[in-house]
Amino acid sequence: MLKQTMLCLSESRTARALVTHAPFAHRAARRFVAGETIDDAMRAARALNQAGMTVTIDNLGESVESEADARAAADAYLEVLDRIATDGIDGNISVKLTQMGQDIGPEFLHDNVRRILERAAELDIFVRFDMEDSEHTQPTLDFVASLWDEGYEEIGIVLQSYLRRTRDDAASASARSLRVRLCKGAYAEPPTVAFPDKKDVDANYVETMKLLLRDGHYPGIATHDPKMIDAAKAFVAEQGIDTSRFEFQMLYGVRRDLQRQLVKEGYRMRVYLPFGDAWYPYLMRRMAERPANLFFIVGNVLKERRH
Ligand code: FDA
Repeated sequence: MLKQTMLCLSESRTARALVTHAPFAHRAARRFVAGETIDDAMRAARALNQAGMTVTIDNLGESVESEADARAAADAYLEVLDRIATDGIDGNISVKLTQMGQDIGPEFLHDNVRRILERAAELDIFVRFDMEDSEHTQPTLDFVASLWDEGYEEIGIVLQSYLRRTRDDAASASARSLRVRLCKGAYAEPPTVAFPDKKDVDANYVETMKLLLRDGHYPGIATHDPKMIDAAKAFVAEQGIDTSRFEFQMLYGVRRDLQRQLVKEGYRMRVYLPFGDAWYPYLMRRMAERPANLFFIVGNVLKERRH
């Protein structure tokens, strides 16, 4: 119930305006977002690299409606790519297609994204396309497939185990050697397209993960769930899959203890590192995943106020 409310609020313009004007919300966002500037992102990326982790940098923003905003978002990614190269960061980028103009039109989207892919190819940096709500699933997969057919192969997709279609999508991606990040899924979806019960989402995660580890191309196992992580560890040990053939991925600020533990155990760990001022929907989705985050943040803010 609280989860659904937070996910609805993540799409509300009124709630966005209220929250983003509240000073405490900026402090709350810093728990999950590296900061508002590219320098903040680079500082956080360097620290994670020093701790033995790679990063994927997300310039926050989504559901962009004007061409000017979508172009500006792509420009910001060009700067991120340049800074990854000049600052010597071990990392890549994660891009949301609705930020690049997916809802504006296919030609515009293609031209805008191509600018990023060209620069990324020059600098030898991998580009991951995040997956958004289920209305965008097929258009996103089609778009990435068309880029692949044009010859852009240093790109990858994200699949969500809450979607009923995901195992088939994982099999198609594996057949193409397209890199997949597997996560559970973070949007409010109807039961016609997504499993309503967590146990089915988890079971689908494990089955799809095994498929990707066995037949896929360098999958990203993106989860903070110890049960999923233990299942991955057991499967790779049983199948003799080397740790260089996949990576674990987690979100910035979430289960930092587990991130460090996995590095210590010799696994590859990539941290999803968001930055920018459009943090509102991202933060709300993190609250929806774990309502305790909401209480933790409100509690800390109240504590700060008292002192
Ligand atoms: P689950 O939600 O079952 O949580 C398991 C445990 O993990 C919890 O009990 C808690 O301990 C911890 N945990 C999980 N979320 C937490 C949080 N926010 N704060 C604190 N603890 C938390 N989604 C999507 O739809 N499209 C995408 O492109 C991406 N991309 C992406 C990249 C990466 C690197 C990650 C890790 C995740 C995503 N996601 C995503 C988000 C994903 O779909 C999912 O919502 C979250 O990862 C939470 O799911 P878990 O697998 O962690 O399990």
